[in-house]
Amino acid sequence: MEKTTKSVLRDAMTKLAAIVAVSAAFDAISATVETPLLTGWEFSRGSDKAAWTPVRIPHDWAISGPFDKEHDKQVVAIVQDGEKTATEKTGRSGALPWIGEGWYRRTVEVPAGTGYAALLFEGAMAEPEVFWDGAKVGEWKCGYNAFVVDVSDRLSGGACHLLEVRCRNRAESSRWYPGAGLIRPVRLLTGGRVGIAPWGVNVRTPTLDTWEADVELRNPDLRVVTVTSYVKEGDAPYRPWSPEAPNLYTPVTEVRGENAALLDRRETRFGFRTVELAAEGFKLNGRVRKFKGVCLHHDLGAVGAAFNDTAFRRQVAKLKEIGCDAIRTSHNMPAPDQIAICDEMGMMVMAESFDMWKYPKCKNGYSLFFDAWWRRDLENLVKANRSHPSVVMWSIGNEIPEQGSAAGLEMTRALQGFVHGLDPTRPVTQGLDRWPNAIKSGVAGEMDLTGLNYRLRFYDAARKVAKNSIVLGSETASTVSTRGHYYFPVKEGRERESPHSDGQCTGYDVECAAWSNLPDDDRALQEDNDWVVGEFVWTGFDYLGEPSPYNEYWPSRSSYFGIFDLAGLPKDRAWLYRSWWRTDARTLHLVPHWTWPGREGKTTPVYVYTDAPSAELFVNGKSQGVRTKDRSSRLDRFRLRWNDVVYEPGELKVVASYPDGTSETAVVRTAGEPASLKLEVERCNLSAPLDDQMPDLGYITVSVTDASGNLCPDAALPLTFEVSGAAKFKGVCNGDATSLEVFTEPRMTTFHGQLVVVVEPTAVGPATLTVRSGDIKSSVGFSVACGRESR
Ligand code: GAL
Repeated sequence: MEKTTKSVLRDAMTKLAAIVAVSAAFDAISATVETPLLTGWEFSRGSDKAAWTPVRIPHDWAISGPFDKEHDKQVVAIVQDGEKTATEKTGRSGALPWIGEGWYRRTVEVPAGTGYAALLFEGAMAEPEVFWDGAKVGEWKCGYNAFVVDVSDRLSGGACHLLEVRCRNRAESSRWYPGAGLIRPVRLLTGGRVGIAPWGVNVRTPTLDTWEADVELRNPDLRVVTVTSYVKEGDAPYRPWSPEAPNLYTPVTEVRGENAALLDRRETRFGFRTVELAAEGFKLNGRVRKFKGVCLHHDLGAVGAAFNDTAFRRQVAKLKEIGCDAIRTSHNMPAPDQIAICDEMGMMVMAESFDMWKYPKCKNGYSLFFDAWWRRDLENLVKANRSHPSVVMWSIGNEIPEQGSAAGLEMTRALQGFVHGLDPTRPVTQGLDRWPNAIKSGVAGEMDLTGLNYRLRFYDAARKVAKNSIVLGSETASTVSTRGHYYFPVKEGRERESPHSDGQCTGYDVECAAWSNLPDDDRALQEDNDWVVGEFVWTGFDYLGEPSPYNEYWPSRSSYFGIFDLAGLPKDRAWLYRSWWRTDARTLHLVPHWTWPGREGKTTPVYVYTDAPSAELFVNGKSQGVRTKDRSSRLDRFRLRWNDVVYEPGELKVVASYPDGTSETAVVRTAGEPASLKLEVERCNLSAPLDDQMPDLGYITVSVTDASGNLCPDAALPLTFEVSGAAKFKGVCNGDATSLEVFTEPRMTTFHGQLVVVVEPTAVGPATLTVRSGDIKSSVGFSVACGRESR
């Protein structure tokens, strides 16, 4: 039996305690302690547990590769992409060695007399089984979800215990790279027999100046006298949370027994914000706004699937710089730290659960477990995240094949209803793609918020059946591009198969997947219709696996969909979205680069991405004319295009004119031969590693430049890296989806003149990265200071 209590606070100076009286005795011990178990682990690949290597978690055993087309080679028809016959798909799940079994072990110390001990796993890929002193004590199926294993009854026999975890990944279980092993933190929870359950404090803000908390106790049959939640007085006055002003407060929940003895205490960060759907659209804090969102997979490029808070913060910072305000955690449960970071940095979240229900998209995917596990998975997703202000809606599925059937409607009702039961405060959506069947089945009209993946021509029909007559672009664009790569003549294309012989896509942003469209198409729909409540672009960053339209092309092992590439470097599209999403800043960007030896005298179209209504282009000072945005044209509505520019080396310049009479200028120049390496450190001051935190990471962009400092946009220079002092080399990525160079060796070839090196601090003090290519050498310093605050 669960006992909960609710405290309501209307004024920061008033404390209101709700009292619950329950029977039986209790043991007075102070608050539950959460100890991160990130170090001290050993890992063994395979089932025989023969050889062990020391590792730190989060850990992804497959990210070091090597890449090989035989890893999880799938001979399948991708039905959701409209394929009818099976063909060989080589890089579909990343071409990395994530299939098979791996074991982790470490000792865990639990002091004698501890009343409660549990292990919180934040994500273990996949099908983790947990053993405590040799006995199996728990298991989960989904590798992305958090789960808790209570070991309170197994604490006899001394303070030291052996914790072992087995992870097993099946072939053909994923449509993308899932990673492998303990990819997210494990935490030990210890406390008295009476206390607050894991995720037991659920804070809500029914209005912008009130909050309430439900508290769920563990061992609710034991005696508790009071449960109080209060906001610290210093935290007043209340300011609402929003992506632009992510104000957070930390209420304290205390559980007390007889004589006011403190039994447990928990701090829960939350923000005052309201979420509402109405005929006018989506409202945050009472104001209508449209989602400027992106879908994100969980992998972090060179770091792989092992969650790292710095790597994720970096993604959020880059997204915010282009004006993005929301993330969809496609298509699975987010890491808990991801959501805490979104709270802190100001990013709304659609927290998603499943990519499939009963009907499989991959032979060995989650469908094997759906019937038995969906309630447990949804429960943990919602309970772990429902106090977070950043989470503004839940998604119960992505492109679920059942959506067009009566059974699909029944399941939709069951899943949506189940989520409502756990959290009545947020809307539920799902990304629907089977139109018009999703309308006929009733599924589209059943959702709190009807989400459409692509299929723009069905938006209007969907709106007619949708609640509040509003719809969301739950997945948009799927435009494909390669950073710095262009083909001539420029040709718009909707591709199902390899459009080019070199395995890349054009940087002119005119190629998309066969089932999708260009960013401009979505933008027009967003601008023209108040009833479209925003979009989640597929995707913010490139990710490992799903190399459409090169699913059958080897080598190709990561996606082309990102606004940013796999290294986190912006593609041209970043400026296109920025020109729409950043209403507080000007954007002006030239496409393509201007170094085209051999193209002299040839037509080389120039596109400009800007928020300005018009601009004039110059080649070596000669005007190429003024272009003005044209609402009636698909591509000229949001871009300025000069399609007949004839290439001559030198200077390409654009001058954009604004209605207030001011102007902005952007220039690119033809680069000469590679002469030096420019090293740009994203953060100069890193933090030294602490056992209870994920390691800080430093990112350094390396650009090949000519003697005048211009980027050499086609330079493919093999580089080596050496890190000395208080840091070590961690990884490197050049954003080339067809590269088979591994991320974890200190060498890589620049792709379109650039790559990004990742370093990890090892101590306190100065550190240096030295990059070499033949005679060219460059170094950059950064410093590592004492550790940061715990989260
Ligand atoms: C969607 C799907 C995504 C991804 C995308 C690629 O249909 O939901 O997971 O596969 O297509 O365009």
